[in-house]
Amino acid sequence: MSDDAANGQSKGAAADGDEIIRLNDVYKIFGPQPRGRAFELARSGVPKNDVQRLSGHVVGLTDVNFSVKRGEIFVVMGLSGSGKSTAIRMVNKLYDVTHGEVLVDGTDVQKLEGTDLQAFRRQKMGMVFQHFALFPHRSVIDNVGYGLKVQRVDRSDRNDASMRALSLVGLAAFADHRPAQLSGGMQQRVGLARALASDPDILLMDEAFSALDPLIRRQMQDEMMEIQDEVHKTILFITHDLNEALRIGDRVCIMKDGAVVQIGTPEEILTEPATGYVAEFVQDVDQGRVIKVHEVMTEPRPIPADMSLSDALTLCQDIAGRFCCDTDGRPISLLTAADGLRARSMGSNDLAKALRSDFDRCSPDATLNELYASAGRGLSIAVVDDSGKLIGNLDPRLIMEEMGRVEGLIEGFEREVFM
Ligand SMILES: Nc1ncnc2c1ncn2[C@@H]1O[C@H](COP(=O)(O)OP(=O)(O)OP(=O)(O)O)[C@@H](O)[C@H]1O
Ligand SMILES: [Mg+2]
Repeated sequence: MSDDAANGQSKGAAADGDEIIRLNDVYKIFGPQPRGRAFELARSGVPKNDVQRLSGHVVGLTDVNFSVKRGEIFVVMGLSGSGKSTAIRMVNKLYDVTHGEVLVDGTDVQKLEGTDLQAFRRQKMGMVFQHFALFPHRSVIDNVGYGLKVQRVDRSDRNDASMRALSLVGLAAFADHRPAQLSGGMQQRVGLARALASDPDILLMDEAFSALDPLIRRQMQDEMMEIQDEVHKTILFITHDLNEALRIGDRVCIMKDGAVVQIGTPEEILTEPATGYVAEFVQDVDQGRVIKVHEVMTEPRPIPADMSLSDALTLCQDIAGRFCCDTDGRPISLLTAADGLRARSMGSNDLAKALRSDFDRCSPDATLNELYASAGRGLSIAVVDDSGKLIGNLDPRLIMEEMGRVEGLIEGFEREVFM
């Protein structure tokens, strides 16, 4: 991890970079006569529903303008049908515009055709989709290198590039596995490696993490920000989840009914919502009150009770403590690095001597604010299911950090909006 990532500074890294993607006055109408009456209606400001009622055409995008700076994570966020995918498909010309201009690194993409378009896409952008779309019968490394193979890159260069990309996503050791041998999160990392393999300037990610469960999804967001600190790509990221948008975006573009409602930094979106629509959205956002434990807990990885103290200590590293479980998987004791080191300094290598049992337990459905007091003790909290089995480890520092961040934002928001 780079120093920047360690400091959580990936966001905002490229605040003043130059522009790499621009959409100018872009309209997209779906239907048999996209440039007919529907377009005129949309152009004169008639809302999407009315255009549909009056013309039988669907407004995909109406008067969309935004520009993405080189090196930033630009997130397009909106409800289903708001036009997010349509917008991203303009950038690689999977769709033709009805009206307007799309510039990528100075090139008018919509004017490209045939092999020029293909070459431009390959060279400039990688895509990551919601569904992994990996070839089941090819190895991980061959999946990652597939695009390069199509470009006739020879095998050894292809494998070098694929291994570099796999290392970036932490999967170098899985190069020879088949996709089915990997978890959903790992498969999505293969998808990311595939997009990174040709070293494009731009990553287009459409709901890339939306199919993952919340815990894995958060890990992927963190990883993506760490990778971004190394590779400095421009990332156009689509999501329908405002929490995700605010978490990873340098800037966020909120869309509704095919139109852009607001573009701003996460702080601007939260503290200066441009319309009632955005304000309403923001009210639902991840206020500490509603962040649930299962969204932030990490995998439990308990320590085997028969381990030596020194081995157990290497497992503790920078986390706030690991649990030992009984044979039914219920947590019975906790080893913290501090306790372990103290016991070691007194000459013991007996794990049992360093364990404590005065830790707190919580349910995965508890909310973070319920755990503030507990977190203040600085010990890992055991997340247990109904039968008392350990299903997660909750780092108290994470609670403090998450609550602090969110409360700061919410406070600002409430000051601006409600006072
Ligand atoms: N190929 C198409 N033909 C007709 N209508 C389309 C087509 N693609 C998209 N649309 C319409 O355009 C609008 C925007 O769709 P789009 O797929 O961009 O939304 P989205 O924001 O990506 O939604 P989701 O979150 O469901 O993926 C929707 O009303 C949709 O029905
Ligand atoms: Mg979509």
